[in-house]
Amino acid sequence: MKTAIRYYSKFGHSKQMAEAIAEVAGAKALPVSEPLTEPVDVLFLGAGVFLGKVNAAVGEFIGKLDPSAVKCVVCFGSSAIVASPVPMLRKMLESRGIAVAEQSFSCKGSMGPVHAGHPDAKDLEDLRNFVRGICAE
Ligand SMILES: Cc1cc2nc3c(=O)[nH]c(=O)nc-3n(C[C@H](O)[C@H](O)[C@H](O)COP(=O)(O)O)c2cc1C
Repeated sequence: MKTAIRYYSKFGHSKQMAEAIAEVAGAKALPVSEPLTEPVDVLFLGAGVFLGKVNAAVGEFIGKLDPSAVKCVVCFGSSAIVASPVPMLRKMLESRGIAVAEQSFSCKGSMGPVHAGHPDAKDLEDLRNFVRGICAE
């Protein structure tokens, strides 16, 4: 299974999450500034939320994707106020005709003292287990 990982991370949380995914999925964790260079079966795509939005760089990355070169996207991310950034990612991807997996991974991401310390070690281990499940499918 050919896998790629991309993230946008303002405070380093999605980067940490992408690196945990990389440990299990055997692909490199790269920022969305790095376009996909070859077709993939699974693309893990993640971000946090800043002032109610996913960063525009994620939209730019999605805008450059070739829908025929990505079989399926698995979304991940963290947030402090909204439940998850995944619905925003899903909407952007689906509007380009890109298939998005039902399964996704979200956890709390700190905003100052709110959810301080998250994503924490347990969040990252839960994420690794989630990815083990995806890779076993
Ligand atoms: C200044 C600031 C603004 C934030 N705005 C929001 C927000 O509007 N909604 C939300 O759910 N989380 C918000 N968060 C929480 C972030 O989404 C959370 O820290 C996330 O883990 C960041 O991921 P990243 O470091 O990968 O960008 C905010 C955090 C900070 C520090």
